[in-house]
Amino acid sequence: MRNEVVFYLNGMRTGVSGAESAWMLSDYLRYERGLPGTKVVCAEGDCGACTVLVARFRQGRFLEYRSINACIAPVYSLDRSHVITVEGLKRPEGLHPVQEAMVRAQGSQCGYCTPGFVCSMAGMVDSAKRKGCSIDAKMVRNHTTGNLCRCTGYEPILDAGCSLDPGKIPNLASLYSQAPMEAEFGALIPSVCVGTQDAPVFVPATLAEALRLRVDHPGAKLVSGMTDLGVLTNKGKLVPGPRIALHAIDELHSWSEDDGYFRIGARVCLSEVEDALAGSFPEFSNMLKIFASPQIKHSATLGGNLMNASPIGDSTPFLRVAEVSLMLARMGSSGQVEIREVGIDAFIKGGYKELDFAGDEILTSIRIPKSDHHYALFKTSTRKDLDISTVAFAARYRIRNGRLEGVRLALGGVAASVIRMPDEEQMLESGQIGSGLFMRAADSAQARVNPLSDVRGSSTFRKVLVRNLFLKFGDRVMSEAGLPVSEVSV
Ligand SMILES: Cc1cc2nc3c(=O)[nH]c(=O)nc-3n(C[C@H](O)[C@H](O)[C@H](O)COP(=O)(O)OP(=O)(O)OC[C@H]3O[C@@H](n4cnc5c(N)ncnc54)[C@H](O)[C@@H]3O)c2cc1C
Ligand code: FES
Ligand code: FES
Repeated sequence: MRNEVVFYLNGMRTGVSGAESAWMLSDYLRYERGLPGTKVVCAEGDCGACTVLVARFRQGRFLEYRSINACIAPVYSLDRSHVITVEGLKRPEGLHPVQEAMVRAQGSQCGYCTPGFVCSMAGMVDSAKRKGCSIDAKMVRNHTTGNLCRCTGYEPILDAGCSLDPGKIPNLASLYSQAPMEAEFGALIPSVCVGTQDAPVFVPATLAEALRLRVDHPGAKLVSGMTDLGVLTNKGKLVPGPRIALHAIDELHSWSEDDGYFRIGARVCLSEVEDALAGSFPEFSNMLKIFASPQIKHSATLGGNLMNASPIGDSTPFLRVAEVSLMLARMGSSGQVEIREVGIDAFIKGGYKELDFAGDEILTSIRIPKSDHHYALFKTSTRKDLDISTVAFAARYRIRNGRLEGVRLALGGVAASVIRMPDEEQMLESGQIGSGLFMRAADSAQARVNPLSDVRGSSTFRKVLVRNLFLKFGDRVMSEAGLPVSEVSV
């Protein structure tokens, strides 16, 4: 294994080993490299002041540049990538067009948030160029969901973003020559061991290697996109110790489709899932639009969301009703990788963060069966963007001859885990579609759940939300069935 993390920083080769390799990138940039343009405000992935652009080298080539939060990205996760910070966007001949636009539109006052907005918008320009589209206010808003400004006000920032013409701005890959980086990355030993003796960080390049490390280091924490673990680390809630990072294992990054299933690799990030499933599961893809921010979704993985096992994890209600199965790998006694397939209902055992998952296993992929079912996914949160669910509702169903068939229902935020509602499923299948049917199911669900009270809402409020979400589902079904919906309004 290589004992140095190697990446390029604004075109300069950078090697990091020892304890620094586990620092967050923002700290490394500011305190080790003298690049204070990358700011740190929340250190939780919420404000975007630490946004930088990263192109990862995978399977012999660079992927596109994507914005990420440097405050929750450990240096080792940048191995074999090119990082561009706000300082690196400026060229000898002048400011980057996004920087110029912010100056022209007076998009900055104290300036603390500005580098983050500039990096997010530079990533947006590249994305618009790839899609061949122009930039409008909606696009600027979507790409800066993860950036907060407390003093300028957003109008001048929006004006700056809307003034950008992707056709006239060079793409990020043209700012620095990628050829020498590719040549070096292609020749490197792909797996890495860095960190310290007490807290080694293993970055295996194959699944077999990772599974052997699972056996040899039973206490090591698996690390994926770090969006949950990075926050815990910064809050001092994650005990320092050995880590096994999964980002260098190519097979975990792939997704595929056959006649029966979509197979999404555990390391596929949520922005890729949003695109990959847009055609077949548009309801889920749309729900991901209000999941976190672009920076988070460029790092966070579907596997990490499921394995974090939060009762308010946003993908889990969909995964439950879609009846997915999980592929779990372990190293067999004969030295061969063994795969176990387990259905989602058996996998989620019901207690808080209680999963059918052994300490020597790794989730490799999620299989989503294709079907002609409809889906309804509702997320309620205190604000629309960049917020965690208070209560989430998911339903899968078919409408046949005025009745519902194949109903599966799941609720997040009302119990120790994301739960199914089998009694209400049966109830909804038992009668003709009509307002009374949904009223009965809504009343039953409200009476059955017993949520906790916390900062996001009291138990009573959550119970009312559950009822209203069932009624909202009723509106959706009635409308699809061609029936008047006014009787079942929330
Ligand atoms: C600002 C912010 C906003 C957020 N918004 C949302 C939101 O709107 N909705 C929401 O649901 N979540 C949200 N999150 C939480 C987080 O982004 C997601 O849970 C994310 O999907 C976690 O994925 P990850 O790859 O970053 O996981 P990590 O943080 O790397 O890991 C999470 C857990 O999963 C385990 N794990 C990861 N991969 C595997 C694997 N392949 N096999 C076995 N175990 C594994 C890890 O050991 C760890 O316990 C937010 C987080 C932040 C910081
Ligand atoms: S410092 Fe706020 S998102 Fe990183
Ligand atoms: S300019 Fe001060 S926080 Fe945005």
